[in-house]
Amino acid sequence: MTAKTILFLALCTPQLATAFDIRSPFSFLWSASRRDDGDGYYDPNDHGGSMLTEVDGTYPEGLGEPLNMIVSGSSDAEVLVDQETDGGFRNYWLSIGFGAECLGQRDALQQRANLGDGKGSVNQSSVLRWDYGDPQLGTCTETIQGGNHFRYWVQNGDDQNSGAYFMACSYEMPLEKHHDIVPNGYNIGRDEIVGNITRSAVPTLNLTDSATVPYSTDIKYVSGLLSNTSDGVNHYSTVEENGRPAIDGLVAVMTVRIVERPASDAASLTIPWTLPTISAIVVSLLAICL
Ligand SMILES: *[C@@H]1O[C@H](CO)[C@@H](O)[C@H](O)[C@H]1NC(C)=O
Ligand SMILES: *[C@@H]1O[C@H](CO)[C@@H](O)[C@H](O)[C@H]1NC(C)=O
Ligand SMILES: *[C@@H]1O[C@H](CO)[C@@H](O)[C@H](O)[C@H]1NC(C)=O
Ligand SMILES: *[C@@H]1O[C@H](CO)[C@@H](O)[C@H](O)[C@H]1NC(C)=O
Repeated sequence: MTAKTILFLALCTPQLATAFDIRSPFSFLWSASRRDDGDGYYDPNDHGGSMLTEVDGTYPEGLGEPLNMIVSGSSDAEVLVDQETDGGFRNYWLSIGFGAECLGQRDALQQRANLGDGKGSVNQSSVLRWDYGDPQLGTCTETIQGGNHFRYWVQNGDDQNSGAYFMACSYEMPLEKHHDIVPNGYNIGRDEIVGNITRSAVPTLNLTDSATVPYSTDIKYVSGLLSNTSDGVNHYSTVEENGRPAIDGLVAVMTVRIVERPASDAASLTIPWTLPTISAIVVSLLAICL
């Protein structure tokens, strides 16, 4: 390498990095490296994982809670980022009325799950709670009064990297009742969230400004991932109702898309990354650098 080439690279690297998100033209490469069974997720049961979480201290031992909702890896890439801004996963849930743990507390009852993606059993990424219409303090109300909440994990290990979010939803009793699950509380938790999504197509203007991204959500109920059973299900004796098993075995699979992007984003997203455009950019960069 000549001294001039080295000087050229040294001069250009910062400009290249700041002028453009270098990864953008090649984003098709990393989306191609994310695979799935065609539905936007892999069934953990097929890959040594489980659709039940792992909970410490259950009686009898080894019970878990159903992963009864999935945000599929076919959702928009922005939605699959675990953040509260820029259309991310938490941004989506804020718009529906679910927020992070009250006053930044950490969930005392961590659960684990093995999504069969090669990571083995890992702690929950986080827990989100129904905010009772108050994005600031509402999740504190949920912690004390009980209500709807879910823990979630991301299927992003090296073996089965779908990018999908697996959620364990349940409707819980108040703190003084030790957060047991209400009768039929797994199915109810899931279905109230589906109700929240379908009835809250227009997010309340009162929510934080980061929550104003309009989303569209396709939802379908899928059987075969979980069983219609009480076997292995935590709190099964109080959750069973009228002789029906604790869970109905259905999983609500959602595909979330951003309907309209903020103007600044839209501009960068609509650059057509064709060969002529890339050549033009390279030529301009050379001009800037030399
Ligand atoms: C998982 O959570 C438990 C608490 O339930 C904690 O002791 C442990 O350190 C956590 N593991 C990791 C890898 O964060
Ligand atoms: C959303 O769910 C909560 C509790 O889970 C319920 O109280 C509320 O009425 C629901 N809202 C809508 C719009 O469905
Ligand atoms: C915002 O919240 C306040 C108090 O909770 C309420 O009085 C007001 O009607 C809400 N505004 C909108 C646009 O939802
Ligand atoms: C689950 O099984 C019960 C009977 O044990 C039945 O009443 C119910 O319809 C089943 N639900 C589904 C979704 O198959």
